[in-house]
Amino acid sequence: MSSSSSAIQSVLVENRVFPPAESVVKAARISGMDGYNALCAAAEKDFEGFWAKLARENVVWNKPFTRTLDESNAPFYKWFDDGELNASANCLDKHIGTPVESKTAIIFEADDGAVTKVSYKELLAKVSQFANALKAQGIKKGDRVLVYMPMTVEGVVAMQACARIGATHSVVFGGFSAKSLQERIIDAGAVAVITANYQMRGGKELPLKGIVDEALAMGGCDTIKTVLVYQRTATACNMVAGRDKTFAEALAGQSTECAPVAVGAEHPLFILYTSGSTGKPKGVQHSTGGYLLWAKLTMDWTFDLKSDDIFWCTADIGWITGHTYVAYGPLAAGATQIIFEGVPTFPNAGRFWQMIERHKCTIFYTAPTAIRSLIKAAEGDASVHPDRSDLSSLRILGSVGEPINPEAWMWYYKNVGGERCPIVDTFWQTETGGHMITPLPGATPLVPGSCTLPLPGIMTAIVDEAGNDMPNGAGGILVVKKPWPSMIRTIWNDPERFKKSYFPEELKGYYLAGDGAVRSEDRGYFRITGRIDDVLNVSGHRMGTMEIESALVAKTDLVAEAAVVGRPDDLTGEAICAFVVLKRARPTGDEAKQIAKELRDWVAKEIGPIAKPKDIRFGENLPKTRSGKIMRRLLRSIAKGETITQDTSTLENPAILDQLGQAY
Ligand code: WT7
Repeated sequence: MSSSSSAIQSVLVENRVFPPAESVVKAARISGMDGYNALCAAAEKDFEGFWAKLARENVVWNKPFTRTLDESNAPFYKWFDDGELNASANCLDKHIGTPVESKTAIIFEADDGAVTKVSYKELLAKVSQFANALKAQGIKKGDRVLVYMPMTVEGVVAMQACARIGATHSVVFGGFSAKSLQERIIDAGAVAVITANYQMRGGKELPLKGIVDEALAMGGCDTIKTVLVYQRTATACNMVAGRDKTFAEALAGQSTECAPVAVGAEHPLFILYTSGSTGKPKGVQHSTGGYLLWAKLTMDWTFDLKSDDIFWCTADIGWITGHTYVAYGPLAAGATQIIFEGVPTFPNAGRFWQMIERHKCTIFYTAPTAIRSLIKAAEGDASVHPDRSDLSSLRILGSVGEPINPEAWMWYYKNVGGERCPIVDTFWQTETGGHMITPLPGATPLVPGSCTLPLPGIMTAIVDEAGNDMPNGAGGILVVKKPWPSMIRTIWNDPERFKKSYFPEELKGYYLAGDGAVRSEDRGYFRITGRIDDVLNVSGHRMGTMEIESALVAKTDLVAEAAVVGRPDDLTGEAICAFVVLKRARPTGDEAKQIAKELRDWVAKEIGPIAKPKDIRFGENLPKTRSGKIMRRLLRSIAKGETITQDTSTLENPAILDQLGQAY
């Protein structure tokens, strides 16, 4: 928790305030700060009653719950425990017989620009048929199914079909390597993989099934009995007889009706792996009832969703944002949403803006990294500037995944939102299931770079290392003092790690988010100052430094030691810097360049391209104390290019600092 104290201390003074327009306040579901404060007061007054009411209003229960919150085995909290429901029925069946039934659920735009639309009724038929195909493969309630799919309607169908039969899905982002896939299959004990032959991104055809084959060939995956392959492109892929089936084969003859299986509210809807501060990714386990409630409710609260909205969250289904705000939330809320297969820069960096115009998008939700890269592109090429597209359909903008710097916020506000659309800067995590701290479009005066205030019922606070409250203006550790319905339930296979990582004893039973934060003196607004553990945020993707270090030292023929730190980066938020000691003489010049490339490619193979270090520095050693501990704070300074002003008297080998400071 002590690794990056600068994250706790930095303070920013931001005086610009943008209150919501009167007309927006009037039409909003949570109207004005009075509306917000009333909900917060209701949650304070009767915490369980507050959540019970919302859960009854927003979720369709097969069997109503009688217990709201069970704290008897804290921190393994249970919500709505004796209730039963089905997540897919709450996203699809619920709309049948209402006007939503014939409404477009998904506007899908492929990488090449081809557009297809699917109504709620059609989506229900697809999901039901796929659910029957899963059952025909012997997959049943409680089984884990690994999903390794491109951003397509079929990806969402696969997730919903698992939910429909009570199977727990574990989606792995299509950019992760065979090795990462194999580790997740083994940890989850998955019985099947759902994948595609290839994925299309930026005009390129990239393999998925080939990587699945490679993962399964690495061994230890004997639990896998079935691999279902969506043929996204015409290119053939290897198929193993008896194990692999195309979607077409699996779906043939299956009915488009399938009764949803009611499960207990605590039944694991999914496991999603994310990086922590040790080498091994954590399988974050989410519930069905509490998770679904929050997915639906935050669509209504944070985005103030109206029946004619065209919602677009650009996140991939491989991340939590794509779970809550693509696969579940928009459907549970009965929205029309855009799903985009490709990348924001293909065929040009105006793609997002052109798509907003084409589909008359009203709510647009993306990551600061994407915004920053599109600012850069628009500055270099006026033809991809948002002013070339008609963005008048937009009414709300969102930001997610990392802190948004005030400059990017202002650009987004002016050039995309036309100074008329509120920006909801949503702070949350894989573990929180949905939004935690965010402005409400019709209530909260906005301050650039601040995620403002917690949602009603979410008891966030800033404390010191002993769990004592910090006054406004003083930075500290972000915690949540009370449980909430969509919180992580445990780490799959590792309840001890769950307790240790999120509920450390010294913090009085509070949930530890792992971020530093500060509240402003005037409004008490939260601003996230960055992770306080060994987790990096690169382009909104979460990476563990230890994970990358483990990957580097796994190259045993070459690497003796490695230390990985982050440094600030204008475009990606943070960049990965690796300090490496080789088993041979320290390389310089071309040799250093060539070995650095080799190591980058190696990390891409071990984890995935997103984990490639941007900088690699070679040294004969790493800066260590006399007891042999690597001094990471010095490495962070070197990575930033700072002159070392810290005390280095405990350092065993001070000369090494100069050497590591040199680029090759
Ligand atoms: C970490 C969680 C939220 C879903 C996508 C990322 C950082 C996230 C914000 C924000 C500042 C943010 C935090 C957090 N983060 N949103 N609006 N402002 N920081 O989920 O991969 O689990 O990462 O992302 O550091 O702990 P994740």
